[in-house]
Amino acid sequence: MYDYDLLVVGSANADLVVQVARRPGAGETVLGSDLVVHPGGKGANQAVAAARLGARTALLARVGDDGHGRLLLDAQRAAGVDTVGVLVGGAPTGVALITVDPSGDNSIVVSPGANGRLLPQDVQAAGGLLQAPRVVSAQLEIPLETVVEVVRALAPGSRFVLNPSPPRALPGEVLAACDPLIVNEHEARVILGDACVSDSPADWARSLLAKGPRSVVVTLGSEGALVATGEEVAQVASVKVDAVDTTGAGDAFTAALAWRLGRGESLVEAASYAARVGAAAVTRAGAQESYPTAEEVAGL
Ligand code: RIB
Repeated sequence: MYDYDLLVVGSANADLVVQVARRPGAGETVLGSDLVVHPGGKGANQAVAAARLGARTALLARVGDDGHGRLLLDAQRAAGVDTVGVLVGGAPTGVALITVDPSGDNSIVVSPGANGRLLPQDVQAAGGLLQAPRVVSAQLEIPLETVVEVVRALAPGSRFVLNPSPPRALPGEVLAACDPLIVNEHEARVILGDACVSDSPADWARSLLAKGPRSVVVTLGSEGALVATGEEVAQVASVKVDAVDTTGAGDAFTAALAWRLGRGESLVEAASYAARVGAAAVTRAGAQESYPTAEEVAGL
């Protein structure tokens, strides 16, 4: 019988990263740094972030039978993630093409590859994995039908956390399961669609809540986050740091929040801790390599 704090269902990508003086516009070519290849992908990132903090973590994902897939599996195992749910083969490993500018901001294009072959039947076949965790988290670099199947397969008592990235309209069944739905500004605007009639993050939080989630978190980068439940919208502060690379910071935030919720913390407490984890993650280059241990977070 499995026993996990967190099961992450999601993507695993090889991140092909180039530093640039400025990110190119349409039709433009710029020169950048030497290419660096990091383990990434929003699902794999969340799993590593949680495990590094001390969470008993498993990943349900699919990688290709190739060098990038082996890089990703090695990174998961080195962080202590249980990879029993990582399927191999069917397509090349997903790849993310990433440019990072001097302010630490990035642009990302993802070729889903094997992530697109993580199918509802893979969730069904994973059976026992979904019976075990306190919290299950997902993102949208895998097919939406697969996320729907995750929601249907949740064990009684398991909490579902979703970061809808990259964002798209969500079925009511998925929205109703989120506790919380975690969005940044861009994701909030896309999920709200025509219902986005304000520039106020607090209004987005309330409007998102009205679409069905049990709770909502709007991340605000260096400004922290807003936490919305039925009763209130609360602001959670971040800590000031010098940003080097924001890649994967949102994944670290989501993983930390999900883990702390599973430990019984309130949403405000969990988001406060997650904001510090996200802040630590932007102070180092890359995604998974940048994630802090619990001791490092305590020292912030
Ligand atoms: O959130 C950051 C991640 O987005 C990167 O690691 C990249 O793989 C893309 O999935």
